[in-house]
Amino acid sequence: MYYNPTKLYFGKDALSNLKTELNNYGKNVLLMYGGGSIKKNGIYDAVIQILKECNKNIFEDAGIMSNPTTSKLYEGIKIARDNKIDLILAVGGGSVIDYAKGVSASVNLDSSVDPWEEYYVKQNECMVKPIPVGTVLTMVGTGSEMNGGSVITNVDANLKIGKVFGAELFPKFTILNPEYTFSVPRYQMVAGIFDIMSHIMEQYFSDEDDNTSDYIMEGLMRSLITSSKIAVKNELDYDARSNIMWTATWALNTLVAKGKSTDWEVHMIGQAIGAVTNATHGMTLSAISIPYYCYIMPYALPKFKRFAMNVWNVSPFEKTDDGVYKKTDKEIAQEGIIMMSDWMKELGLVMHIAELGVNEDMFGKIVEGTFLLDGGYKTLTPEEVIKILKASM
Ligand code: NZQ
Ligand code: ZN
Repeated sequence: MYYNPTKLYFGKDALSNLKTELNNYGKNVLLMYGGGSIKKNGIYDAVIQILKECNKNIFEDAGIMSNPTTSKLYEGIKIARDNKIDLILAVGGGSVIDYAKGVSASVNLDSSVDPWEEYYVKQNECMVKPIPVGTVLTMVGTGSEMNGGSVITNVDANLKIGKVFGAELFPKFTILNPEYTFSVPRYQMVAGIFDIMSHIMEQYFSDEDDNTSDYIMEGLMRSLITSSKIAVKNELDYDARSNIMWTATWALNTLVAKGKSTDWEVHMIGQAIGAVTNATHGMTLSAISIPYYCYIMPYALPKFKRFAMNVWNVSPFEKTDDGVYKKTDKEIAQEGIIMMSDWMKELGLVMHIAELGVNEDMFGKIVEGTFLLDGGYKTLTPEEVIKILKASM
């Protein structure tokens, strides 16, 4: 079954559609946002003006932090319950939107039920009628604008866990204006770009059959690589930023997962690192990806060869003084990883977990918090996770 109910509005004038959407919901709107970037770049004022024009009662839940926490989640649930909210309008990046879904699925729970326990620890499906969520995306990467993902951190338990809700929790509508991402700090922009790449790779590196999804993903990766190189030179390049925004949405809106068993082990380790360091999500992924993929490459050489040739344009031949040398599969595959590593350095990504504050004393907690999945080419053991962490230092 393939079903994605999120309606997208894309382009410089996308916000003009908010009015039409608001007509579909009741009076009480809960505006959710982060630490204040939307007040500096004018998005807050533009949204408030439209809410006022539509005669909505506006309630606010501000200060949603990157890597939103359980204690903030409980706060949001209370605000939504106290004010009988008809629509949650999440204006921000993945953190704000993930949090909005967590609140949405929890408002109608009995107050004795703990959403962290039910949804994130036990991974239950949504147990009540959710509050509709609409989004205005301001930071690109997670794909949360068109999926059911919601990642929450429990600081006391040292755990960061993602729940992938069903279609009832997908945003009802999402407003995508690439210009809104112009003010994102460079560190966040490149972290988001790598998050997109990682989402695609997590799905690409699984299975051995010939699958249309792999061809779509190769196209998405090629577009991302091309546009990211332009965006780091000129952050205001509209075409590049709009390609990146659109690629992010399609990388994780469930389409390319169709027919794939999918890996997600990089995200599992990355989330465990995030739980102990509170580091930026995309950087937790970039810092472990090269060691991870080098480690699993021997288990899937044909796929890594294909990745090198179709995504990074690695040639299987090399001209030498004596004629033409035909590279081995391993040489081709390794060249692809080197090309990826060079691209990551060009973007300025974090390449070592030590830079995120990780030290060897934390390895125990990170391994404990890492879920070991079996959808990829190699199911890791805890000892292998340690090896990868060591290689990532
Ligand atoms: O809080 P404000 O002041 O708004 O600043 C934010 C924040 O500091 C800033 N920002 C956002 N838009 C901006 C801007 N600054 C200037 N101009 C703008 N237009 O950027 C910072 C990062 O924002 P955040 O929302 O935290 O980043 P991101 O979108 O990367 O979201 C990260 C969260 O999403 C989860 C991650 O684990 C993490 O908790 N993920 C969610 C997924 C999903 N729903 O499917 C999948 C992902 O793999 C990921 O795990
Ligand atoms: Zn991610």
